[in-house]
Amino acid sequence: MGAGQAVHVRGLVKQFGDSIVLDGVDLDIRAGEFVAVVGHSGCGKSTLLRVIAGIEQPSAGTVEHADPVAVGFQDSRLVPWQRVWRNVVFGIRAPRAELRQQARAVLAEVGLSDYEDVWPHTLSGGQAQRVSLARALTLDPRLLLLDEPFGALDALTRLNAQALVSRLWAQHGFAVMLVTHDVEEAVILADRVIVIADGGIAHEVAIDLPRPRSHADHRVVDYKAEILARLGIDIVT
Ligand SMILES: Nc1ncnc2c1ncn2[C@@H]1O[C@H](COP(=O)(O)OP(=O)(O)OP(=O)(O)O)[C@@H](O)[C@H]1O
Ligand SMILES: [Mg+2]
Repeated sequence: MGAGQAVHVRGLVKQFGDSIVLDGVDLDIRAGEFVAVVGHSGCGKSTLLRVIAGIEQPSAGTVEHADPVAVGFQDSRLVPWQRVWRNVVFGIRAPRAELRQQARAVLAEVGLSDYEDVWPHTLSGGQAQRVSLARALTLDPRLLLLDEPFGALDALTRLNAQALVSRLWAQHGFAVMLVTHDVEEAVILADRVIVIADGGIAHEVAIDLPRPRSHADHRVVDYKAEILARLGIDIVT
């Protein structure tokens, strides 16, 4: 895999028992590219992400990715018995003062400077997700894999979280693969939207729009309609 690439997948097959979920997927993500993955529930989006992350092994095919890789899920997966700053640097071995400094820097990046010392259960859902993003940043990832990271957030918090991910992406230059149910979110954030169906990549849509993007932009609405049509859904108004 070349230096300009973040993900290189060839002939990926993943089956569980007799059920073939992914059937020969080829996928390339360029370094620094933002790719969103959409598709009907159960089509294999999370499976694809988990195989790329190395959480699941492929049944056949090859999977390569740039390192370091960080992964974020819908559930922020914070450890309840550690304060926020400890969660951010969980698993990193370094002197305490150094860890504290590192946590402080990334928490500032996600706008949570005042929350270093609080317990995870006192955070809102959106704040917990931001802590989870801060934790990902400590890895200085070249590739960030996100599986429905905003899925449990209310609409307004979700917009803020999307803007944050977009800003972190622009600042850090890592590649992102974002799995989402939300086609509009995919269009607002991604360079390219991939539609998974029938065990493979059924469609790819390059989102050729300057940033920042507005939900009200008619071109965003047009892309959304195009992708929904690819998913077999017509917008009825
Ligand atoms: N560990 C597993 N063992 C058996 N079957 C599994 C396993 N993981 C996933 N599957 C099956 O693989 C298929 C794809 O699941 P996956 O979680 O990838 O879907 P998804 O596209 O992420 O769906 P959703 O949008 O609902 O999150 C489903 O039929 C699911 O039941
Ligand atoms: Mg899923």
